[in-house]
Formats: sequence, C-alpha cells, structure tokens
Amino acid sequence: MPEQLDHAFWEARYRGHSTTQHPQPNPHLTVEAANLTPGRALDAGCGEGAEAVWLAAHGWRVTAVDFATAALDRAGQLANLRGPEIADRIDWLAADLTEWTPEEHAYDLVCSHYAHPVTGAETLLRRLAPAVAPGGTLLIVGHHPSDAHSAAHATGVHVTAEDLAATLEPDRWEITVAETRSRTMTHGSHQIELRDTVLVARKQR
Ligand SMILES: C[S@@+](CC[C@H](N)C(=O)[O-])C[C@H]1O[C@@H](n2cnc3c(N)ncnc32)[C@H](O)[C@@H]1O
Repeated sequence: MPEQLDHAFWEARYRGHSTTQHPQPNPHLTVEAANLTPGRALDAGCGEGAEAVWLAAHGWRVTAVDFATAALDRAGQLANLRGPEIADRIDWLAADLTEWTPEEHAYDLVCSHYAHPVTGAETLLRRLAPAVAPGGTLLIVGHHPSDAHSAAHATGVHVTAEDLAATLEPDRWEITVAETRSRTMTHGSHQIELRDTVLVARKQR
C-alpha cells in the first residue's frame, strides 16, 4: 500500500534511521547555487541538513525548516560536527510548511529538495515564492513522474518542471532552468537511476 508521507511518517522514518554516514548535499543545489552571491537562504523541508550545511559552508546565512524534529536533531548534529562557524550560520526551525508562512522578500535563495508535502509541490511553491527577494533565486527539486524509484514507494510525490513553472507569474519571474535530469545514486550496495524535476527561477528586481 502506498505510504502517506505525513508528519508521523517522517518522524518515525528519521527516528528509526540509524546510519552514521553523513548525508551528501543535493547535486542540483551545488551546481545551481555555486555562482550565486551568498546572502540569506531558506531550505524548505531540510531533512538531515546536508544542503543547509553546504550553504552555510559557502557563506550563506540559512533558515532550515522541517516538521520532523528527529530530522532537525540529526541536522543540528551534522552542523555542530562541522564547527561553530558553520553551525552558527544556520537557524533550524520546526514548522509545517503547509501552515508556516516565510517572511516576504526575505531570502536571496529559497530552495526545496523533494519536500513534497501532502498538499502538493505546486501549493508549496506558491507559499515559498513570495519569500524570494527581488533579484533572488528559487530552486525546486522534485521527483519527475518517470522516476521509478520514488514511484515504487509513494504516490502524490511527482511533479514536472513545466507544472511548477506554470504557477509563477511570467511577468515577475525569469525561468532559467525547467528540466528533467537523470542521475545515479548509491543506495545501499547498488546504484539506482533517479529522474529529477529541476526548476530554477529568478525573481525580477
Ligand atoms: C524526502 S525528504 C527530503 C529531505 C531533504 N530535503 C533531502 O533532500 O534530503 C522530505 C522532507 O520534507 C519534510 N516535510 C514533508 N512535508 C513537510 C511539511 N508539511 N512541513 C515541513 N516539512 C515537511 C520531511 O520531514 C522530510 O524531511
């Protein structure tokens, strides 16, 4: 039976997660943010914090939000392992992204990687887009409908870049990336192919 990816699911998932391996930052973030001038960043659905820590290590001041406190505990530990100059640049916030409203125009980068809340990726994008400062960047990474790995585990987690882009007002945003990208990832002892949806948009000044 497909799983309902709600708060209880994620808390249980992270509480039961016993790996001591450090999570790796999302490769689409590391590529797309590499040439941005660091400022304030929001990571929505930050999970175990690899992206927030990467951003902090690259000079960003980060607000990292997730409703799973077990994930935030792990994320805080990861940041502390990297030292105070990283940890002090990140504010961890326990909040439900379907209810929490980020401050308008507050962030030079708003990013979200596979957050897929139960209300859907487009609804999340509509809630996050106002938080991007004029001239700032929005990066949304999700599972494309052709992604077999996620399709085997859950329903309601898929979205296309075209559908995400269509929710942004064309006169306020420049879409710089709206793509389906394939990549391989090590999962346990084997390699799996992922099909990711990637949207990057710049808010007009
Ligand atoms: C698939 S994980 C991705 C975590 C991380 N971004 C990554 O790429 O490794 C989805 C994350 O979104 C969080 N999440 C899902 N729905 C949420 C909601 N409504 N509010 C806050 N966080 C949510 C989950 O707790 C989980 O940490």
